[in-house]
Amino acid sequence: MLSKITTLVATAALSTMLVTGSALAAPVTIKFSHVVAENTPKGQMANKFKDLVAERLAGKVQVEVFPNSQLFGDNKVLEAMLLGDVQMAAPALSKFSRYTKKLQIFDLPFLFKDMTVAEKFQSSDKGHELLASLQKKGLVGLGYLHNGMKQLSSSKPLKVPADAKGLKFRIMSSDVLAAQFKAVGATPLKKPFSEVFTLLQTKAIDGQENTWSNIYSKKFFEVQPYITESNHGVLDYMVVTSKEFWMSLDKDLQAEVKKALDEAIIFGNGIAAKKALDDRQKIIDSKRSKLIELSDAERSQWVEAMKPVWEEFEKEIGKDMVDAAYKSNM
Ligand code: LMR
Repeated sequence: MLSKITTLVATAALSTMLVTGSALAAPVTIKFSHVVAENTPKGQMANKFKDLVAERLAGKVQVEVFPNSQLFGDNKVLEAMLLGDVQMAAPALSKFSRYTKKLQIFDLPFLFKDMTVAEKFQSSDKGHELLASLQKKGLVGLGYLHNGMKQLSSSKPLKVPADAKGLKFRIMSSDVLAAQFKAVGATPLKKPFSEVFTLLQTKAIDGQENTWSNIYSKKFFEVQPYITESNHGVLDYMVVTSKEFWMSLDKDLQAEVKKALDEAIIFGNGIAAKKALDDRQKIIDSKRSKLIELSDAERSQWVEAMKPVWEEFEKEIGKDMVDAAYKSNM
């Protein structure tokens, strides 16, 4: 009799747990893969997201962050996401061209005067439209994340475009960036971020373009004697997930995850500008690399040389988009 009652109680408890799904369900795991160091706006944002989720959604969701291309390099992460091997990433906007041509707008040289302009455009209707541009490919854009303006580092001093002629530059996987370097007579090479330091160190390439925080955290300044403060383009990210994963979350949980992510993005964007300034200063203080500042006349030469790239890609991106982005400067 006693054992029958015990069995009944146990069965009832088990069915309650199965119905509520609480006690037995393993937490949803979000693997967040990225390629940069932890001490960067993206690294800090991802860690903040992990902490907020741990604080608020313990037992329901857990975030695992994989920095420094530990899990996937930037050329593989979106494929891996569509296969369900990783749930979140924040690739540079230059790395989506296999999925949409629209985001190429962010690579157009000298289109955004500074990061406040990029931010203004990203928060506009057009910016939101671009965030949704990956939907048909099974990816969901969850938000923009800042890094900063790009600078040119090189084995030779670059003051005017003619100085770059014949040099090899590593670029992200973007045809716009390839055209940008071709426009000054240089040779662009599309290579993953994880290979840049070695390529520079072994002199397989002469230079690269990147933000202050990436140049500092990945020690590119130790193997590049010159950095030209060109501020010629934006390096920002889109935080993405797969539609399949996102839709698999129950609505309330999805909203809570999104809230934590939005807060982490605000945090990341909040530290990006200061990080750029601090890392710029650390590079100058190191005396490993010489900072080259451009006069207005020198800068105009770079603008003139690279500007034809806009027209080359206007059709793929959409003239209305380019015009709207340009107007954000005003
Ligand atoms: C690069 O490949 O240079 C950057 O996109 C790396 C990053 O994620 O900031």
